[in-house]
Amino acid sequence: MVDKNLVMERLKTVLDPEIGRSIVELNMLRGISIDDGNVTVKIALTVAHCPLAKTLQTDVENAVRKLDNVSSVRVETTTMTRNELEDLKVKLQARTGPSASQNKSAVGPGIERLGKRGIRSIIAIISGKGGVGKSFVTSMLASELKKRGYEVGVLDADLTGPSIAKVLGVTGKPHKGPSGAIVPVKTETGIKVMSINLVLEDPNMPVVWRGPIVNSVIRQLYWDVDWGDLHYLLVDLPPGTSDAPLTVFQSLPLDGVIVVSSPQDLASMIVSKAVNMAKKMNAPILGLVENMSYLDCPHCGQRVGLFGEPQGEKLALELGIPFLGMIPLDPSIAQLSDRGKIEHYSSPIITGITDELRIRAAKQVEQLTQNLPIAWSAEPAH
Ligand SMILES: Nc1ncnc2c1ncn2[C@@H]1O[C@H](COP(=O)(O)OP(=O)(O)OP(=O)(O)O)[C@@H](O)[C@H]1O
Ligand SMILES: [Mg+2]
Repeated sequence: MVDKNLVMERLKTVLDPEIGRSIVELNMLRGISIDDGNVTVKIALTVAHCPLAKTLQTDVENAVRKLDNVSSVRVETTTMTRNELEDLKVKLQARTGPSASQNKSAVGPGIERLGKRGIRSIIAIISGKGGVGKSFVTSMLASELKKRGYEVGVLDADLTGPSIAKVLGVTGKPHKGPSGAIVPVKTETGIKVMSINLVLEDPNMPVVWRGPIVNSVIRQLYWDVDWGDLHYLLVDLPPGTSDAPLTVFQSLPLDGVIVVSSPQDLASMIVSKAVNMAKKMNAPILGLVENMSYLDCPHCGQRVGLFGEPQGEKLALELGIPFLGMIPLDPSIAQLSDRGKIEHYSSPIITGITDELRIRAAKQVEQLTQNLPIAWSAEPAH
């Protein structure tokens, strides 16, 4: 027999995709009814026509379906009244304290960490060595999050080998908006992109970036750009532990880091260097993604470990960081990247990794951020 308390326990694990807290804690639950194994859950959304409503519905369905004897789950939605919304806002303010979104905090002599403005989660993608698929993972996660209705931006912090604009198929030039800030270029699906490649007269000309310039360019790509309200800003880093990644760690208010590795990363040393850099800079590590883990042979279907046995999960365990998942080698990834059509790629594996990221990023935001969720800056529709 399905029982209301059991359903309630499951619903406590569902986080509002916007705010990152349990829907039960946020008083969004309006009722549970059970008819044999058919469960109906009624949820009040914070805003009508919320673009994330579908994500929330799927999360509720998946959570309740995990219970024994549940044959169907239906999710009905309504919208919170203005008063209910006000109560929630007060409750959230009480827990998070005043907004510190414009504050800057010192992180070391001569270096100031920039503020977050309207961005909820700033996540950097790092790796110990080059060519493991950071830029691919960055653009894939951005595309998948955008598909779920999140507002997403991608900052290409790889000045010497910028590839994000190409992979995501953006070519236009960013222009100055009315406020004087630079308006990022948007992809086909609306991801905001900023890369030095979009600004250079001739993106094919090699540029020598010296230390202090790297620092100021990366800060400008972030701070002089009008990112608007974003749920996620993903920052694609150059490989290794050199000046440029360090600048990002020192300058940007990162909420977390994703480490990308491949089974080729001889021994764990290369990966652990990157992990240690993040730890030293106090950037929370959201998890490790292993890319190019294996190849499913298109002819016989057999799984082949082209670069050796997958070892990401073991490595993550050794390093004491979460494992987000492994991505196989897939020739269509390289083809779509070359054509700037990576937003057209989808796979259940990427969906799973994105879900893991969403949950971990939301928890991180809850623990760390003092910003109010961006939903509250908009007038709720009635
Ligand atoms: N899982 C995959 N299957 C097939 N090709 C892939 C996969 N992941 C990445 N690639 C391809 O491998 C190449 C390197 O990937 P990518 O540029 O994302 O790596 P990177 O870590 O960002 O490199 P760099 O360190 O130079 O910035 C690209 O051509 C990309 O399309
Ligand atoms: Mg790259």
